[in-house]
Amino acid sequence: MTDEAGHPGLIPPLAACNDAACEACLAYHRPQAGALGKRLQPNPVQVARLSQRPAAPSEADGSKPWRREIVLPEREGILALPHPMTEPIIQCTDVHKWFDHFHALRGVNMQVEKGEVVVIFGPSGSGKSTFIRTINRLEEHQQGTIVIDGIELTHDVRNIAVIRSEIGMVFQSFNLFPHLTVQQNVSLAPIWVRKWPKDKADEIARQLLERVGIPEQAEKYPAQLSGGQQQRVAIARALAMQPKIMLFDEPTSALDPEMIKEVLDVMTGLARSGMTMLVITHEMGFARAVADRMFFFDEGVVVESGSPSDIFDRPKEERTKLFLSQILSH
Ligand SMILES: Nc1ncnc2c1ncn2[C@@H]1O[C@H](COP(=O)(O)OP(=O)(O)OP(=O)(O)O)[C@@H](O)[C@H]1O
Ligand SMILES: [Mg+2]
Repeated sequence: MTDEAGHPGLIPPLAACNDAACEACLAYHRPQAGALGKRLQPNPVQVARLSQRPAAPSEADGSKPWRREIVLPEREGILALPHPMTEPIIQCTDVHKWFDHFHALRGVNMQVEKGEVVVIFGPSGSGKSTFIRTINRLEEHQQGTIVIDGIELTHDVRNIAVIRSEIGMVFQSFNLFPHLTVQQNVSLAPIWVRKWPKDKADEIARQLLERVGIPEQAEKYPAQLSGGQQQRVAIARALAMQPKIMLFDEPTSALDPEMIKEVLDVMTGLARSGMTMLVITHEMGFARAVADRMFFFDEGVVVESGSPSDIFDRPKEERTKLFLSQILSH
């Protein structure tokens, strides 16, 4: 179900179309500068740099052809009508986090461009969850800066509310409401938080359940679903709030092996639609196929980052090599 501009029905477009006057794109991709918090203005240097980018590499060199199809038109749109998306959508600079005296994040730097898929991996206790939780303020960082879509995460609760409204999160445990049907789980937040009429929220829930491949489960309760199905409901529920960024914290690690693929398939589809995603996972097949960049965490720092082939084929750091040898040997 698509609208005239090729956008999927009531779901806002994940990638801007080529129509500079498209209202859906204007509403979704070009929020009013300075509506709340301080939104950054387009950076002329970055705009110029984007305009000089070489053409996307061809399929023959192993690049992802769907990235070329989906991301570049959007960037062309940015060049035609500069808007804040020319800044990285996530900018974390020297982020530190302490739990009392324990220094959990020790100066994490990460910049993520719109539409990028970033995989975060590393040993237990290395700070992966803590880091992505700081991005939507489930944890507060004490030093450094986090800027999401042009808004700095500070103590200002208005900024926190805006940033949270732009971010969806999926956890290892699905956290569905057991007393609500699948449909109600997905439509609840749009009705209560976005104040949408029930009909509109139900229609979006229906579209999203279709998108995650379980439209026939709409009237069931979570306990009547498999783990993989429940996780797909959790993804649909997060998408119902129309986030610009999706965070995943080990979304498949609680699943039986036969259900992992169905969830990874949904995540792969989401990545291909142009969603910006940060994914903590040790599913290395997924990382190699879908990630644009990978970040290896250990002891609260980013030890190494790079493309999947940098990380898998030519890791630089001994800690990265050791960790990869441990997880890939299983
Ligand atoms: N609420 C908390 N209070 C105190 N310490 C915490 C808290 N949350 C996390 N920590 C500590 O911070 C460190 C990083 O934890 P975090 O959960 O971010 O690790 P992780 O890399 O996600 O690990 P895992 O792979 O096991 O999920 C750990 O040493 C953990 O014990
Ligand atoms: Mg964790």
